Amino acid sequence: MQINTHLQQLPGNYLFTEIANRTQAYQAAHPSARILRLGIGDVNRPLPAAISDAMHRAVDELTRVETFRGYGPENGYDWLRQAIVDYDYTSRGIHLSPEEVFISDGAGSDLGNLSELFDTANSVAILDPSYPAYVDTSRMAGREIIFLPCVAEHNFRPELPARKADIIYLCFPNNPTGTVLTRKELAAWVDYARANHSIILFDAAYEAFIEDPDVPHSIYEIDGAQEVAIEIRSYSKSAGFTAVRCGYTVVPKATGLQAMWRRRQCTKFNGASYISQRAALATYTAEGKAGLSANLNYYKQTARLLMDGLQDLGYRVYGGKNAPYIWCETSNKMDSWQFFDFLLNSCQVVCAPGVGFGEAGQGFVRFSAFSNRDDCHEALRRLQSL
Ligand code: MLT
Repeated sequence: MQINTHLQQLPGNYLFTEIANRTQAYQAAHPSARILRLGIGDVNRPLPAAISDAMHRAVDELTRVETFRGYGPENGYDWLRQAIVDYDYTSRGIHLSPEEVFISDGAGSDLGNLSELFDTANSVAILDPSYPAYVDTSRMAGREIIFLPCVAEHNFRPELPARKADIIYLCFPNNPTGTVLTRKELAAWVDYARANHSIILFDAAYEAFIEDPDVPHSIYEIDGAQEVAIEIRSYSKSAGFTAVRCGYTVVPKATGLQAMWRRRQCTKFNGASYISQRAALATYTAEGKAGLSANLNYYKQTARLLMDGLQDLGYRVYGGKNAPYIWCETSNKMDSWQFFDFLLNSCQVVCAPGVGFGEAGQGFVRFSAFSNRDDCHEALRRLQSL
């Protein structure tokens, strides 16, 4: 037996595990401290009644012999795939068929699993900083990574790769910097992929936060993108499903990869749970939409509060608009982990250290607006008293 040495050589802890461990160690040493958690982007607003009712009904169905269900279709129920096509795509003038939509148990799994479609000899372009799973997944497969540094001078927008990249991970609105691309800017990436026979893995997990009309909600708003892009979406942030677990991936037939992904999923994935798919369907009802829109507004206002509050305290901040993350330069030239420890020890505020998202994130931290509003007020008050 030979182990996967690429996996063995990954740094000891995943970023969010390291943050959780340090926070837990502080809490154990200071049991009475009230720690304010603005680190991981995890939702806190409760599910709207329309969604929880749908889940209750689904559970009830499973308890009656007439309505009981066993395995569902591996790639998701037709009613959910059709609703996604209608509400998320046709409504924006994008033509897709339900067979191009694959229901998942959240974006995280697919973002990694999709790499199985490609030879390990393919190079991968990844923005630096970026959501750490892209790098970890590529390293586990031993792939060559082309890092694309995103710097403050360019408002954290990436430049096109200087040499050919086979696979390109893009995430807009961006985690962690909150940067967005206009249609024209995104079109340059689609053109690059078409010219270089590359594939774009487009992570649209934060699409629901877009307010600016010039910012595309889907990469398929760009002409030709269906030939070169796979889009990964999640209900985690848009509908508060981090516990429910449901998302979807669009693999257009025009990529030539749809049948392969179907084949892969049918072997390795038995489908998302019936209950979570019923919950996902309820997000498209009028009541579901109203409840979710109230929750999203709550997070958007929290983002604004954090942005303005940090700015007033003299911090240099980015993102926060069209995105739930605030990307903030550390004070006194501290490095990211020094600043993380400083905030934890001096005012019990948890952030996410920028360097955990890549070397170019050094000297920055990320604050998440998926946080309790009162905790954000309190965090700003504590930061002010430093
Ligand atoms: C984040 O904090 O970046 C995300 O919430 C983590 C995730 O989505 O897995």
